Amino acid sequence: MDYTVPYMKRLTNKHIVLGVTGSIAAYKSADLVRKLKTAGAEVHVIMTKGATEFITPLTMQAVSGNEVHQSLLDEKAEAGMGHIQLARWADLVLIAPASADCLSRLVLGRGDDLLGAVCLASTSPLAVAPAMNQAMWKDPATQENVAKLKTRGIHILGPAEGEQACGDTGPGRMLEPDDLVTEVEGLFESGILSGVKVMVTAGPTQEDIDPVRFISNRSSGKMGYALAQAAVEAGAEVILVSGPTSLPIPDRTRRIDIRSAREMHDAVHAEIKDIDIFIGAAAVADYRPIEAEAGKIKKDSDTLTLQMTKTEDILASVAGLKDRPYMVGFAAETDNLEANALKKLNAKQLDMIAANRVGEDPTGGTLGFESDENALSVFWQDGNKELSRMPKSQLARILVELIARRYKSEHNIIRPESFG
Ligand SMILES: Cc1cc2nc3c(=O)[nH]c(=O)nc-3n(C[C@H](O)[C@H](O)[C@H](O)COP(=O)(O)O)c2cc1C
Repeated sequence: MDYTVPYMKRLTNKHIVLGVTGSIAAYKSADLVRKLKTAGAEVHVIMTKGATEFITPLTMQAVSGNEVHQSLLDEKAEAGMGHIQLARWADLVLIAPASADCLSRLVLGRGDDLLGAVCLASTSPLAVAPAMNQAMWKDPATQENVAKLKTRGIHILGPAEGEQACGDTGPGRMLEPDDLVTEVEGLFESGILSGVKVMVTAGPTQEDIDPVRFISNRSSGKMGYALAQAAVEAGAEVILVSGPTSLPIPDRTRRIDIRSAREMHDAVHAEIKDIDIFIGAAAVADYRPIEAEAGKIKKDSDTLTLQMTKTEDILASVAGLKDRPYMVGFAAETDNLEANALKKLNAKQLDMIAANRVGEDPTGGTLGFESDENALSVFWQDGNKELSRMPKSQLARILVELIARRYKSEHNIIRPESFG
């Protein structure tokens, strides 16, 4: 087993739509894109018409590595990554610099340009970094707009004070790109699980047939890894027990690499003592060959029969512990989703189960194992919640918040009626 404590970038896998508007500070946006990317984010840039007077789309395309989005009513653009797709893709919409005019358009909820439409269509957090002359910033109209945006939960980053491009001195300078990256990193941290220890299992297991062959499944590990990342961002200390995947180790997570169901069982039980929440997202093999052959099986006969035996039931074994953690299981089902999920919830004495349909998606494509998106039906003893199809990173954040709230309510850390 390999125990690794890695350093990873804090914005790894974060999808950021960066809106750039017509401010002199737009020249800093290119540097901001570079720094967001260095911190691990993927960035798509939307430029207003005004912004293109200050910095060229070509520059922003070169630094972001993606085509710059400029127009709303554009057949070609809508046929590619249209405004709804951009809005759904974003984990965060960041407008930097945000002009005074942009702030007032946001207050009105205007959707007559691409940036406005994406802001309206996105359910992810929105952050704005105002940049303007100090008198424009102090103007009561701007101050009123900022106050209204704050009441809607929009994050206002800055502005900084100091010397301005126009020669004035005062508040209104856009925060420097380094500071904006730090602020953005902070936006992904909720703290709802601070002081809580979480163990997540992820990925497939491999059950050896002989020294060169094994039985496995199509789990990519993406959901479990996204859950580990979301738990870290919620402030938890996270151990990820992972089957073989090609995924990078999530930020600030301690990963224990295993191959077989037995190794996963042993690794889980070696570390379970202080764990508060256990999330079993791994696709653990149900059966393994009774005995792996010592030598490679030869192709001598026309048929080959493998005798299989049940593997360890990791979920049930953890749920059966005297001082057990809060137990969250996953059920990947091709049919009878609700019935099968509830059966597993009760049979394994789980606190919560997240069921996902795997295989063909009725709306096209595949759901579940290899996909970047998923939809979940979550059940607990006296409730349930449907989480519609969305990127696994966003789904993981919502699920982790739900788990945190249920966990805290059952441990009387917060009262259920204080739930949002
Ligand atoms: C040279 C110059 C610099 C400007 N700088 C700013 C600025 O820093 N902040 C701002 O709010 N507006 C600034 N403006 C005005 C905006 O460009 C203008 O309000 C524009 O309509 C904003 O459009 P947009 O928000 O759609 O990009 C500037 C205008 C000029 C000509």
